[in-house]
Amino acid sequence: MNTEILPFSQDSVEKAAEILKNGGIVAIPTETVYGLAANALDETAVKSIFAAKGRPQDNPLIVHISSFDMIKPLTTEIPELAKRLAERFWAGPLTVIFNKTDIVPNATSGGLSTVAVRMPANDAARAVIEKCGFPLAAPSANLSGKPSPTTAQHVFEDMNGKIPLIIDGGECAVGVESTVICFVNDRIHILRPGGITAEMLSEYAEVEIDRAVEAAPKADDRVISPGMKYKHYSPKAEVFVVNKRAGDFVKFRDTRNSENAWFLSRGKYGEGFVDFGETAEIQAQRLFALLRKADENGVEKVYVEIPDKSGVGLAVYNRLIRAAGFKVVDE
Ligand code: TXA
Ligand code: MG
Repeated sequence: MNTEILPFSQDSVEKAAEILKNGGIVAIPTETVYGLAANALDETAVKSIFAAKGRPQDNPLIVHISSFDMIKPLTTEIPELAKRLAERFWAGPLTVIFNKTDIVPNATSGGLSTVAVRMPANDAARAVIEKCGFPLAAPSANLSGKPSPTTAQHVFEDMNGKIPLIIDGGECAVGVESTVICFVNDRIHILRPGGITAEMLSEYAEVEIDRAVEAAPKADDRVISPGMKYKHYSPKAEVFVVNKRAGDFVKFRDTRNSENAWFLSRGKYGEGFVDFGETAEIQAQRLFALLRKADENGVEKVYVEIPDKSGVGLAVYNRLIRAAGFKVVDE
């Protein structure tokens, strides 16, 4: 199959909708990362997403909508708190788990009785959903286990020959996937941190963060969000989170063989360091692209100055620690 990359335009949106209406899959930009989209209500179409990504069948997909009304047929009830959060944070990088109705196929929900829903803030994504008239299931458009794609070129690297069309909407604004939440009693439970932060959510209810966000899941853990248990975001290079800041990180570099190694620094520490960015927002935008670039450059080891775990930094840390296979270096 020939994989076409077209810029976001009315033409490319129409072309994408045509493919999707016929049960096909298309890559679309969102404000977080690129998504691999299919009709969320068409079991066969959804199964072809799993095939293209090589994704485990029990890992459920997020269903993307373009207007609040589209959520009603998908869920048995919409809690009051969910309505308030949607009003404030949609369109945007927040995914909410609801109890699902029967029209959501098991392939989409990974066999769960719940469905994850979000309304992306990206114009191209919403235009495609609107044109289709049905919600789109869309996981990140990478091969399963690889760093998520934040440019059309990243999608092409992983999906060339497997899908007919990628809509190019430029670089993703946020750079890490959406925040995934569910409700536990009246608390907001964060399953995956993202662009909508714990601090932002805490204005609406008490927030708790799933222990799998920062720690490696134990074999006997009950995992609420299946995606958290898989190896993730991994480049070929070996990644290490280095628990040292600033001058100590600079000194750390001297203790390691720097041949074929990258040292991602949060400040401009000069020669021998790769700029990861000073703020968590910039680190989020750069993380996946840098991991892919390390592979392109034949880098074998990537050492990363530990991010702050506040704000979007928690999402950066969560992705990084998985890319690193939970390896944190202290000395
Ligand atoms: O920003 C995003 O959310 C991107 C863009 C494309 O929208 N999508 C994305 O999808 O990251 P994916 O499939 O790579 O990640 C979905 C995450 C997984 O960790 C999955 O386990 C979790 O959401 N999830 C989906 N449905 C769920 C459900 N019903 N209950 C619990 N977790 C769920
Ligand atoms: Mg993903």
